[in-house]
Parts: sequence; C-alpha cells; structure tokens
Amino acid sequence: MKIGRGNAIGKIILLGEHSVVYGEPALAIPFPSTNVETSIFKSNGLGVLNCIYYMGELVETPDILLGLTEVIKGITEKFKEDYKKLNIDIKSTIPPERGMGSSAAVAVATIRGLYDYFDEALSDDELLKWVNISERIIHGNPSGIDAMITSRGEPLLYIRNQPFKPFEISIGGYLIVGDTGVKGKTKEAVEAVAKFIEKTPEEGRSLIKELGLITRTGMEKIKEKNINDFGQLMFKAHQILIEIGVSDSNLNTLVDTAVENGALGAKLTGGGRGGCMIALADNKEEAYSISEALIRKGAKNTWISEI
Ligand code: PMV
Repeated sequence: MKIGRGNAIGKIILLGEHSVVYGEPALAIPFPSTNVETSIFKSNGLGVLNCIYYMGELVETPDILLGLTEVIKGITEKFKEDYKKLNIDIKSTIPPERGMGSSAAVAVATIRGLYDYFDEALSDDELLKWVNISERIIHGNPSGIDAMITSRGEPLLYIRNQPFKPFEISIGGYLIVGDTGVKGKTKEAVEAVAKFIEKTPEEGRSLIKELGLITRTGMEKIKEKNINDFGQLMFKAHQILIEIGVSDSNLNTLVDTAVENGALGAKLTGGGRGGCMIALADNKEEAYSISEALIRKGAKNTWISEI
C-alpha cells in the first residue's frame, strides 16, 4: 500500500513578532527539537483524521481544523482524488498554540505527505501557497512568517511581502524555550495591537518602529557574534511587547526568572498572551540551570538548543 509521508519542524521568533505584521522585519529560526510527521494512506471506507485535536472521520473535522481541511480538499481535488477516502495520521511534538509554529508546521507536513502520496513534485512556492491558505483561515491576517519559516526550514530575516533573506546564525550560545503551559492567543493579541495603534496612533507606531529597529540591530549583532548585546535587545523587545499589551503575568514571571538566573536576554516569543518565552545563555551549564529555574517557577516544559 502506498503511504505518503511528510514532515516539518517548529519555529522560534527571536525578534520582531507583532511589528512584522506592520512591515517591520522579524528574525526567526527553525526549531528542530520539535517536529511533525504526517502519514497518508488509502482507507477502505470513509477516511479518518488522527491528530492532537481530533480523531474521527475527515468529513466531520471541527472548525479549529478548517484551514487544514481546506488544504487537504484543495490538493486532493487537484489530483482528482476524493479526500474522504484518505486516512491522515499526524504526529506532532510541537505544542499547539504556543507560538512555535504548530499550525503552519502541521500544514507543511500534511501538504508534503499529500504530494508524496500522489507522487507529485512540490515546489517551494507551491508549498508556501498552500500553507498560507491554511494560515489565513486560522489567523485572519497573518504576516506569513510562520508559513515561510516552517516551509523553508532555515533561519530567515522576514519582511512581509518581500523576498525572504536566509541568514547564518552561529552566535555561540544556547536558546532555552519555556512553555507557560497556557495556550497563546495570537489572533486576539494581533487584534489588541491593532486597537492600541488605532487608539494611540503616535505612541503605537513609534513602539512598532522601535521593535523594528531592535530587530535590525539584532541582525547586526548576530553578524558580529555579539551575544551580550543580542541578549540586551531581547530584554528591550520584551518591555515593548509588554507596553503594546501582548505579554501576561506567566510570561513575565518566566522572563524575570531567566534574568535572575543569569540569562543574557529573555522575552516572549510568538503571539504572546500565553504561549512560550525564550532565554539566551552563554553555555550549556547555564542553559540547564535556567531551564531548571523555569520549571521550578511553573514552566510546563522547556527545550534547549544550541544557536
Ligand atoms: O504565535 P505565532 O507563532 O503564530 O506567531 C505570530 C507572530 C505574530 O507576529 C504575532 C503574528 C504574525 O502574523 O506575524
């Protein structure tokens, strides 16, 4: 029996979330500590979708999976197959709704799996087109950064509607990701920022510009391998993200804990209002000690990765 297989990895935004929606740059890296694998095979009866949110017939998927279901329907139609006759099995270690790119990565793995099932070549552009269809249904007005980074799988300086710029990142440190265990509310946070700018346009726009400047400076610091300055920029970005109303007490507690335990920098990552934070450490020992401190302060999970 033909089995189509596809995979994808999670992502972390180092700098630039929210301001990226307004045309400022964002720096994001793939995060291979978390991944998704999708397998697709023919069903004898009505096909079943098996994933973290739902296990049941494909024809009855809940609204939360609407983006993914539309993409499955679109691709099967393109290759003249009935989507209802496929079994789709999605195994993911990316925690959902935590700012780690889960929805985009699930879409990437499933699209790759479908193209593999149909023995069709998949170009980068086509992959991105399908992921964006799913992301727009889920998030409303996404900047496209999640779709881009999970489909490319390489560190990117991303500016909305501009050609992406891959970059080398070897800053000589360790990234610790701490999960508050609370689902992030990206859509709500993006809407809150829009309201903030509408209410106080001058202040709002100047904070967004400041975030943009932090990201550009961060890019320079990466090139210079200046990990200390990069860490300071993370703190600064977090303070502005608090000001524009997208942090919360759980994230702030974990960021403060990282700082108290010697992190060179720390901030929320992704949409905020729940989800994950990141911290930067000089070496492996410090990374482990920060990670332990985060767990003691209530982080539900942590990941450590060399950058
Ligand atoms: O929460 P995530 O991982 O989907 O990241 C969202 C990033 C934002 O800048 C807040 C929104 C966007 O569309 O870029």
